[in-house]
Amino acid sequence: MPRRFRRKRVLILFFLFIFIIYVINQRLENSIDDNNELPDKNNIIYQRLKKPIDVENKVESSFFDSSKHTKIDWHDYNAIARDNARTGLGEGGTGVEPSQQERNSPQFQKLYRENGFHAFISDNISLDRSAKDIRHPDCKNKLYLAELPSVSIIIPVHDEHLTTLLRSVHSILNRTPEKLLKEILLVDDASSKDSLKSPLDTQVANLSKTRVVRLKKREGLIRARLAGAREAKADILIFFDSHIEVNINWLPPLIEPIALNYKTSVCPFIDIIKWETFAYIAQDEGARGAFDWGMFYKRLPLLPSSQGNASEPFDNPVMAGGLFAISQKWFWELGGYDEGLDVWGGEQYEMSFKIWQCGGRLVDAPCSRVGHIYRQFNPHGGFSFGDYLSRNHKRVAVVWMDEYAEYIYKRNPQIKNVNAGDVTKQKALREKLQCKSFKWFMEKVAFDLPEYYPPIPLPPFAQGEIRSMAASLCIDTKHGGEQATFGLEQCIKDQPDKNGEQEFELSWRQDIRVKNRDFCFDVPNREKRAPVILYKCHNMRGNQHFVYDVSNFHILHVATHLCLGCDVDSKMIFMEECDAERKTQKWKFASYNQTLILKEMNKFF
Ligand SMILES: *[C@@H]1O[C@H](CO)[C@@H](O)[C@H](O)[C@H]1NC(C)=O
Ligand SMILES: *[C@@H]1O[C@H](CO)[C@@H](O)[C@H](O)[C@H]1NC(C)=O
Ligand SMILES: *[C@@H]1O[C@H](CO)[C@@H](O)[C@H](O)[C@H]1NC(C)=O
Ligand SMILES: *[C@@H]1O[C@H](CO)[C@@H](O)[C@H](O)[C@H]1NC(C)=O
Repeated sequence: MPRRFRRKRVLILFFLFIFIIYVINQRLENSIDDNNELPDKNNIIYQRLKKPIDVENKVESSFFDSSKHTKIDWHDYNAIARDNARTGLGEGGTGVEPSQQERNSPQFQKLYRENGFHAFISDNISLDRSAKDIRHPDCKNKLYLAELPSVSIIIPVHDEHLTTLLRSVHSILNRTPEKLLKEILLVDDASSKDSLKSPLDTQVANLSKTRVVRLKKREGLIRARLAGAREAKADILIFFDSHIEVNINWLPPLIEPIALNYKTSVCPFIDIIKWETFAYIAQDEGARGAFDWGMFYKRLPLLPSSQGNASEPFDNPVMAGGLFAISQKWFWELGGYDEGLDVWGGEQYEMSFKIWQCGGRLVDAPCSRVGHIYRQFNPHGGFSFGDYLSRNHKRVAVVWMDEYAEYIYKRNPQIKNVNAGDVTKQKALREKLQCKSFKWFMEKVAFDLPEYYPPIPLPPFAQGEIRSMAASLCIDTKHGGEQATFGLEQCIKDQPDKNGEQEFELSWRQDIRVKNRDFCFDVPNREKRAPVILYKCHNMRGNQHFVYDVSNFHILHVATHLCLGCDVDSKMIFMEECDAERKTQKWKFASYNQTLILKEMNKFF
C-alpha cells in the first residue's frame, strides 16, 4: 500500500479513536448521576468501577481504579447483634410446631388449603424474625468490593399469603446494605385475595423503598418479572419468589461477580424454609443445576475444583429459576425473557442457555443464601393457558437446543406435537448476538450431564426381586415413604396373594430404585449395622451408590465399602463389614446382566 494512504488511514483511525473515547466518557458521566430516570439500557453504572478514561490525561493505563477496587467486610454487625438479641417463636430460623388443637382448627386447615404451606404458622412468627446463619465458615471472613452497583429486587406476587410476602420484604430490608438497595418492586399479577389489595398497600406505604406495581390482568410469573424489570431503575435486577427470607450478608457475594463482569449472572444457594414449621434448613452444600431430557430440573455434583473453595462462586450450567441476579444491561441485551413463555416453566432453561450460549456466564455464589418455602402443592389452579408447559419447552427447544431437541421430542412426544407459536424474534436475537451452538453448551458447560442424565435411557444392571440366599425371603419396602426403614418378607413370587413391594432396579445410575417410584436405597450413616432407608433418588451416587458383586453375590455400598446383610430371624437388613463367607450377605436379583456389571462395576469391588 502506498505510504501516504497508510498515513491517511492512521489519521482517520486516530480521530475515530478520539471520538469513541469522547462518547464513552460522556456515557460514563451520565451514568454517574444516580437520578431517578429509567436507566438507558446500554449505559450502566457498574461501569463506574472502571475508571472513566480521561481524555486530557492520557497516561491512565490500568483499566480498574485500584482505589475503588479495594475490598471490605460488608457484614452489618449492628444488625447481627440486633438479630441475636431477639427472642420468640421461630427466631433464629427455628421451626414452630402447632398444637394438636391448632392443627385441627378450621382456620389452620383453611390456610393450608389456600397456600400449600402452614400459613397459620407464618402468622405466628415475627415478620422480622432473625436468620440462622448456616453459611460455610469461610464466608464469614470474605471481603467484597467496596464499591458495588445498586439493585432492584423484583418479586412477582400472585395470591401470596400476606405474612410470607411481608416477611420476604422485611428480611430484605433488615439484611441488605442500605446504599446498595435501590428498590423492592412487588409485581401483583392480578391477585384475587383481599389481603393483597388495600391491606398490602397500607403495609407497603410504611416500608422504605418498596412499592407495588399492579398488572391489569393475569400474565403469569414470566411476564410479571418482565413488567418488574421494565420498572426497575437500578443497575442490577434480582428476581425473587414471594415466599423467601434472605440470610446474613446475602447481597455482596451475589453481585460482586456481576460488578466484575456484567455478563455474569449469579444464583444464591437456595435453603429450605419448611412448609410445615417454617424451620430454616440447608438443602445441601451446593450442586450444579441441570435438566433431564424430559425437561425436569436436575442437579449435578460439584466439580473437584470446588473442593477447598467452599466460599468461591462456581460455574452452574442451569439455574433453578426462582432466585437470581443479572445486570439490567445483560438482561436486555438478551432480550429479557421470551414473552411467548406463559405462566412459568422452561424460562429457567431459556435464560440459562442464552446466558451461556451468547457469551455470558452463570455462577452460584455459596456465600449468598436465601431461604425459600417449597410448597406442598400448588394452590393456584384454574389457569387458562392450556398446556403451556409443553409449549414453553418447545419454544426453548426450537430456539436454543438445535439437534439435541430430538432427544426431548423422543422422550416426550407431547412437546414435539405442540405448536410453539412464532419464534422469529428469538431466532433473530440468537443470530444477532452470534450465540454459540447447543453442542458447545453440552460439551463445554454441561459436559458431565449425559453421564448423569443420558439422552437415551440406558438399561438397568439388574432388576426384579432381591432374594436372600440365606433364607427364602425377599427385600420388601412396603410402599414406605421418605426415611422409611424396611426389611425382609416372604417373597411375593412364592406367595402370589401377598401384599408388598418387592420389585427393584439396580439402575444404570448405580442406585437401587423401587420400581416405578422415585425412591432409592440410602445409607445415611456408617455406624455399626447402619440402617438402609428409603430416600428420594438424588441421582448423584454418593450415599445411594450401590454395586452388585456377582462373584460373591454381594450388594456393596461404595462410599462406606460395607455390604448389605440381614438377620433372618428378626427379618432386619443393615450394612456391615463385607465377609465372603457369610450367607446372610448374599443376594440374588431376579435378573441381571453379568457382562454389563463386570464391565462397569468391577472397579468398585
Ligand atoms: C398462634 O397464633 C394464634 C392466634 O393468633 C394464637 O392463639 C396461638 O397461641 C399462637 N400459637 C403459638 C404456638 O404461639
Ligand atoms: C409503621 O412503622 C412504624 C415504625 O416502624 C410502626 O410503629 C407502625 O406501627 C407502622 N404502621 C403500620 C400501619 O404498620
Ligand atoms: C480453587 O479455585 C482456584 C481458582 O478457581 C483453583 O485454582 C484451585 O485449583 C481450586 N482448588 C482446588 C483444591 O481445586
Ligand atoms: C448385557 O449388556 C451388554 C453390554 O452392554 C449388552 O451387549 C447385552 O446385550 C446385554 N444383555 C442382555 C441380555 O440384555
